[in-house]
Amino acid sequence: LAIHPSPEPPMSAPLPDTPCYLNGELLPIAQAKVSVLDRGFIFGDGVYEVIPVYGRIPLRLDGHLARLGRSLASVRIRNPRTVDEWTALIRDLIARQTFDDQSLYLQVSRGVAKRDHAFPKDTPPTVFMMVNPLTLPSADQVSRGVTAVTATDNRWYRCDIKSTALLANVMLRQLAVDAGAAEAVLLRDGFLSEGSASNIFVVRDGIVATPAKSHLILSGITYDVITDLARGDGMTLEQRDVSEAEVRGADELWLASSTREVLAITTLDGKAVGNGRPGPMFERMYRLFREYTRRLRLSA
Ligand code: PDD
Repeated sequence: LAIHPSPEPPMSAPLPDTPCYLNGELLPIAQAKVSVLDRGFIFGDGVYEVIPVYGRIPLRLDGHLARLGRSLASVRIRNPRTVDEWTALIRDLIARQTFDDQSLYLQVSRGVAKRDHAFPKDTPPTVFMMVNPLTLPSADQVSRGVTAVTATDNRWYRCDIKSTALLANVMLRQLAVDAGAAEAVLLRDGFLSEGSASNIFVVRDGIVATPAKSHLILSGITYDVITDLARGDGMTLEQRDVSEAEVRGADELWLASSTREVLAITTLDGKAVGNGRPGPMFERMYRLFREYTRRLRLSA
């Protein structure tokens, strides 16, 4: 049984002069500073987005901004920009980078105030955006798949909010890393929820299934792309409860996120998934996804 750990590509610090956006100003990232009293720092009291950018074109910007709006409304932070303002700021920041394929990180926190759990009055939110090169999975990860481990989903009941308070996700991802795995597949009460930073799909007898959207998972934009591509290509795709037994007995398992696109999980808890290689449904989906991002690049 081949277990091939899938190390992340080495993380390099962003170049100190990479332009970022902070509270209305564009400045080199090394000069961007936030108060230690920022509630994002003190409480993790903020929400965020990660938007993949292909050839300077953001993938489903409307979907990301709609989800940002829902996250902000859920935590009762006033959305500090209109959709048109966000769009203009994001396009401008993309244009200022020296590389074409980007991962744009956007964060809004509840702002700077004396430490007190209760919301401060009349405090403007802190708005921050930065861009890193989009580092997609390696050819080896795509062709061989990655390993994953299962873990108990011990997060709260508002996983639909894209909150910067990610301690549980951080702990779960590290649990996977410590086991030489690329992702933790989370199970709650005998059912699949999602990965520590991805959505999960199972394939059995040619049918693709994934948990329906609820407060127990993040409503992934990549998830939306995959469900649209699957249906558009005539695959049977079910959005419903997926049991732990289905996860363990799957022919194929996929993970999906903005930074990993779609990847086959070929080893789960040390056991081969299906025959231990990316399956035919994965290969079909991966081709569709590649075609989707190729078209996106061409739309520039
Ligand atoms: N995370 N579920 C969780 C818990 C996530 O953190 C993510 C993404 C997803 C996939 O969502 P999307 O397809 O919109 O990227 C699902 C991002 C990439 C991150 O935190 O870096």
